[in-house]
Amino acid sequence: MKFVIAIDGPAAAGKGTIAANLVKKFKFAYLDTGLLYRAVASKSLDEGVKPEIAASNLTQNDLMKSNLRDPVISKESSKIATIPEVRSCLQSFQIEFSKKSGGVILDGRDIGTVICPDADIKFFICATVQVRARRRYIELLGRGVKTNLAKVSEDIIRRDEIDSKRDHSPLIKATDAILIDTSLLSIEQAFKMVEECVKKELKKSDP
Ligand code: CDP
Repeated sequence: MKFVIAIDGPAAAGKGTIAANLVKKFKFAYLDTGLLYRAVASKSLDEGVKPEIAASNLTQNDLMKSNLRDPVISKESSKIATIPEVRSCLQSFQIEFSKKSGGVILDGRDIGTVICPDADIKFFICATVQVRARRRYIELLGRGVKTNLAKVSEDIIRRDEIDSKRDHSPLIKATDAILIDTSLLSIEQAFKMVEECVKKELKKSDP
């Protein structure tokens, strides 16, 4: 069996939580592609090397750092993700992962459009800036990061703009992606919708 789920959407829309629930439910392999960009941003800052160099030398250890979800890395990751050389360094790893046998889930910004244009099912998860900022603010507070809602909101707006306006692989809904607006949904409700769509599609591919 081979089944690819592509999940895209802006910052803090709920992609990661939905993916984690899908992993639990279907036992598929999962790649959080945002983590790769975060690891490049962190390595580049820590080692004082160009993002292109950091991307071409990325190791498993770089993906294990505890600071990857810090706001400073979020900000930097959106910047370095505009560099075509960085994107192409990370592309082959993502494509290889998507070719694994069995079920796979990838989440990011360009999965349904560039990395896995032939995915079996694609989702574009979105929510209003206010809702996303609040979710991210609560997440950061929970991790002990000192910040405030206005700042988190500003960062999200800025990152959305960089991600959707860049020339290479911008954040955009694939035409065949299922749009799920999680603004007014609980995680359980959002997951239920995604789960139903996946079940239906799985049935089609393996009746
Ligand atoms: O968790 P959050 O949604 O805030 O971000 P993320 O998914 O961890 O991604 C961090 C950054 O990496 C994004 O703001 C994008 O600029 C970049 N990214 C990308 O360009 N392409 C991807 N497939 C995944 C992430």
